[in-house]
Amino acid sequence: MSSDQLLLITGATGNTGAPTVEFLLGAGHRVRAFVHRVDRRSEALAALGAEIVEGDLLDLHAVSSALSGVTAAYFCYPIAPGSLLPATAIFAQAASEAGVGAVVNMSQISARRDAKSNAVQQHWLAERLLDRSAFGTTHLRPTFFAEWLKWQWRREGDQGVLRLPFGSGSQAGRHAPIAGRDQAAVIAAILQNPAPHDRQIYPLVGPQELDHYDIADKIADTLGIPVRYEPIDIPEFAAALTAQGRSDFFVQHISSVAQDYQDGIFSGENNLVEVISGHKPMTVGEYVNANHAAFGQDGPYAVAS
Ligand SMILES: NC(=O)c1ccc[n+]([C@@H]2O[C@H](COP(=O)([O-])OP(=O)(O)OC[C@H]3O[C@@H](n4cnc5c(N)ncnc54)[C@H](OP(=O)(O)O)[C@@H]3O)[C@@H](O)[C@H]2O)c1
Repeated sequence: MSSDQLLLITGATGNTGAPTVEFLLGAGHRVRAFVHRVDRRSEALAALGAEIVEGDLLDLHAVSSALSGVTAAYFCYPIAPGSLLPATAIFAQAASEAGVGAVVNMSQISARRDAKSNAVQQHWLAERLLDRSAFGTTHLRPTFFAEWLKWQWRREGDQGVLRLPFGSGSQAGRHAPIAGRDQAAVIAAILQNPAPHDRQIYPLVGPQELDHYDIADKIADTLGIPVRYEPIDIPEFAAALTAQGRSDFFVQHISSVAQDYQDGIFSGENNLVEVISGHKPMTVGEYVNANHAAFGQDGPYAVAS
């Protein structure tokens, strides 16, 4: 793909979208960043050289106009009540009309026909819907992002706590946390050369599968403070998220994937990030080092005892 081609990144101010814009601009490509709202995050992308388009992914006309002249696109939609499927249908129709060649779609490792999470079942349906299009499709199915480590982090004086429903003792579930930035390297690589990835589904994971006792130890080693994992049950976690003001849709999703996590759905190791992007994904220690300041305070999803 040459730099006269135009790449559209949706969710462009998010965890995976923003670094994807950065990587593609760094590689000399023309990038259009579709942002929900113009703010400091979008201004930072504009300063790097991205063309900024403001709009709603539920607005067919805005999406159509953003896809005009685009050769390949990244589609990323958040966990939001009932709207992934209309957003996907709008994107698929507008991309087909615009003659887009390939779409990289953000899904989840737990995506499956009989997923208990409503959001995750919608991800699976969205994959199937996109696969009915003439353009190339690649579905990314990441495990839990490394970003959750800081979002779920509770700072208690000179100690840290991860209070989560991810199983206890030898029954604790495991995953290999993957940073949004490492996923962005994969997305950017596929968008630059989509043909070999057409109709592929990639489970994306970080370099090492760990349970939350191991993760707490790695964070402790990096920060130099005691850190412990305190297993809680799923209803207690759900009640804490509800008390934080999270939507019923989100709480249903997180409660269901917490059970999936305990059942091993989020586990696994592979070398896809390195094979596709050419670089090794960050370890937990490297991620914590790169986000040191975030571990000085409670994350937005921290659960108190
Ligand atoms: N977090 C995990 O552990 C995990 C694991 C596997 C898969 N996933 C999947 O990853 C996806 C989220 O990716 P991410 O973390 O990179 O995104 P993110 O950081 O949650 O950001 C979402 C982006 O979408 C924008 N947005 C929200 N609603 C929009 C709308 N109606 N129209 C246009 N833009 C809109 C947001 O802008 P504003 O902020 O301005 O609203 C933001 O830029 C979800 O599909 C989730 O299922 C997440």
